[in-house]
Amino acid sequence: MQTHEIIRRFTDHFVSTGHTRVPSASLILDDPTLLFVNAGMVQFKPYFLGDAPAPYPRATSIQKCVRTGDIEEVGRTTRHNTFFQMAGNFSFGDYFKAGAIEHAWELITSGAGFGIDPDKLWATVYRTDDEALELWRKFLPESRIQRRGGKDNYWDMGVPGPGGPCSEIYFDRGPEHGRDGVDTSGGPEADEDRYLEIWNLVFMQDIRGDLSPKEEHPPIGTLPKKNIDTGMGVERVATLLQGVENVYETDLVRPVISRAEEFSGRRYGANVEDDVRFRVIADHARSGVMIIGDGVTPSNEGRGYVLRRLLRRIVRSARLLGVQEPVLNSFAEVVRDAMAPSYPELATDFERISAVVRNEEESFLQTLTAGSRIFDTAVTTVKAAGSTRLPGDQAFKLHDTYGFPIELTLEMAAEAGLTVDEPGFRTLMAEQRDRAKADAKAHKTGHSDGTAYRAVLDAAGGTEFLGYTDVTGESRVVGLIVDGVGVPAAGKGTAVEVVLDRTPFYAEGGGQQADTGWIRGDGFSVEVTDVQSPVAGLSVHRGTVTDGEVTIDAPVQAEVDVTRRQAISRAHSATHLVHAGMRKALGDAAAQAGSLNAPGRLRFDFTSPAGAVPASVLADVEDEVNDVLLNDHEVRAFVTTQDEARRIGAMALFGEKYGDRVRVVEIGDYSRELCGGTHVHRSGQLGLVKLLSEASIGSGVRRVEALVGLDAFRFLAKEHVLVSQLAEQFKAKPEELPERIGGVVERLRVAERELEKVRADAVLSSAGALADSAEDVAGTALVAVAAPDGIGGNDLRALASDVRGRLGARPGVVALFSADGDKLSFVVATTSAARDAGLAAGKLVPSFAAAVGGRGGGKPDLAQGGGTDPSGIPAAIDALRRRLASA
Ligand code: ALA
Repeated sequence: MQTHEIIRRFTDHFVSTGHTRVPSASLILDDPTLLFVNAGMVQFKPYFLGDAPAPYPRATSIQKCVRTGDIEEVGRTTRHNTFFQMAGNFSFGDYFKAGAIEHAWELITSGAGFGIDPDKLWATVYRTDDEALELWRKFLPESRIQRRGGKDNYWDMGVPGPGGPCSEIYFDRGPEHGRDGVDTSGGPEADEDRYLEIWNLVFMQDIRGDLSPKEEHPPIGTLPKKNIDTGMGVERVATLLQGVENVYETDLVRPVISRAEEFSGRRYGANVEDDVRFRVIADHARSGVMIIGDGVTPSNEGRGYVLRRLLRRIVRSARLLGVQEPVLNSFAEVVRDAMAPSYPELATDFERISAVVRNEEESFLQTLTAGSRIFDTAVTTVKAAGSTRLPGDQAFKLHDTYGFPIELTLEMAAEAGLTVDEPGFRTLMAEQRDRAKADAKAHKTGHSDGTAYRAVLDAAGGTEFLGYTDVTGESRVVGLIVDGVGVPAAGKGTAVEVVLDRTPFYAEGGGQQADTGWIRGDGFSVEVTDVQSPVAGLSVHRGTVTDGEVTIDAPVQAEVDVTRRQAISRAHSATHLVHAGMRKALGDAAAQAGSLNAPGRLRFDFTSPAGAVPASVLADVEDEVNDVLLNDHEVRAFVTTQDEARRIGAMALFGEKYGDRVRVVEIGDYSRELCGGTHVHRSGQLGLVKLLSEASIGSGVRRVEALVGLDAFRFLAKEHVLVSQLAEQFKAKPEELPERIGGVVERLRVAERELEKVRADAVLSSAGALADSAEDVAGTALVAVAAPDGIGGNDLRALASDVRGRLGARPGVVALFSADGDKLSFVVATTSAARDAGLAAGKLVPSFAAAVGGRGGGKPDLAQGGGTDPSGIPAAIDALRRRLASA
């Protein structure tokens, strides 16, 4: 049975039993505890917790999931996958254990479902769950129902939140799948290779605290209702129903492997090492494409970094399979074709996805080439020093600067006959990780475990935001945190985090910078310099107590710095206009990839498959946006349903929000966008928008920067003064300046070229003197000198040939070096008598190259090369002299 058919049958079964079909949530749902969505229940979390009423009593979904905890393991085993689809049915206070078990059983065993032989099925229940065990006895003999502890049969999200005991369904693949071929008839408890878990039914009823019931710690509360959350592994069921060994051989994954086989000319299943590479490619191509599909672009942090690692591992694996040409786009096409029936946006959005992977591959291949050069130099140096081991710091540099995974360095070193100091490499990596951890600690999202914030959230509830309408407000201190710990009071001079029950302060988010301002109470005040939301629903004001002592429960007046807020709001409204303008000019592929709204300025990042945006297009967008300002449209914000927002064409950015209600901000008819930020009331309040620049920030993403309001005006005024000054200096009218300056630059260029020629002539005319200075080394005339700095390779070669000519019929060797900054070039030339005596120029190079950190080579009569250490020139000359002396 094909995977799409499995999905269809699953959905039909649950829709026909009263479940509302809910589309998969974005992989990057806005949950601060998760990098990527990793289970079907994530989008329903608020309904389980009772934070929002469930809009339907029953639901079903096929959720795309990414788990990146063990990227390194992917491919080495056939069990690990970073991408998979979780099919689930959910009950929000509706049916409970009996319903969940009956629904699952019916689908798995019936002909309209998966038609699996009931004799092959086993179930597990939580060790004390007699109720579930009793329910299973309707379908299974007691010998095939097992009780297991919390580790296997309790499920939670790995963080405080909803959880519950669970019951899992297993399929017996038969003794040939037993561990090491041993027939373990002891069920899932004995062997999870033979018994494959296919479905997890969670009886979602508890709230777990900091410690998990998985480790047998009691839950800290119960949910308002008893719920059901289930997850069936679509790929696992496909493995069974397609009668294949593992996920990699199923219908939606195998085609990627086949494409890799075509590229490499090698076969999957022929060789253990190659198989790992094929699997890495197949798994990562799927997760990479799905993640990009949801709006992530490669970068050096967070989700973008995970994506970058995935894509680079594909490229490297392809290289190790012997493929030299670009591969990512081709793999992405295969993934698109396999997955688009379920996720049509992969097809409609493919142009953007393709641009992202092509750019990432291009930039990685460049570092791969640059890195390979560094690697070659390192190998030469190691060998020249008579060693066989590449130092750890070199492997680290290749990793850190050139993105070389250590496995790649190991492999290349082995090819060059070297080993690598791996312990040294790992020590440096560990040091770097510690540094990164220290940085993260210092980073403004603060104390990473979030315990103190969650304690405040649990005790006091969330923060109500007043800032859409007000910039001041009366409220109460409900939490105080100093150095990550909740405190009852904080005195003057203390760096403190203050939580209020309601606040006009905007917490940094959605690209909009945080408000600053003051929190004042009876006898104390706190200067607020930053506001963050480290856990959803909670705003944390960071600052310093400037007077008195702030205490829990104190009534306060919160005051936002209004001037700054207004300037930020102007920037945010301007970003919406620029976004709309870009979309109109470039089409929907110009999707927002990030933004920054700071006082008076903005940055807007967007995907641009076609590359740079022409200046004329930018000028048109700028013109149009300013026209919108002049028309002084009303800016309106309202809350509506997701569906309605889509229907009216609101631009939805990545990171969809929870729940069905979304906030839409519209500026006249020109722009309509989902947004939680603050804005001006009328577009005229922006005054002026000036686009400053447009540039690539890598991976198919472009960035425009712009100024807004007075900042835009001041910028133009300053440019005006500058142009006036230039006009005066060049004695030209402003519009004549480009031509005038162009003329001056051209004359300068001609003059420089002439100067260069004069210099070269002078150098070449020194040939006679150099030939006269030849020293005799064991019968060979040697001219080895540092020529003046900055002589290019051509001139150096011409000079060396000239000197050689003047040495006549004698055995002679000419070696000239010329430094240029921290690099150098060198040339070695030999006379024919020298060559007859066995002195080939190319063979002489290795005798001195290491001394200048260089390498090179060439023919017997002429060789040349470069190096990285000009201070080694005298040592190189000595080395060459010794070489001739020993010839
Ligand atoms: N939420 C449950 C899981 O992920 C179904 O296994």
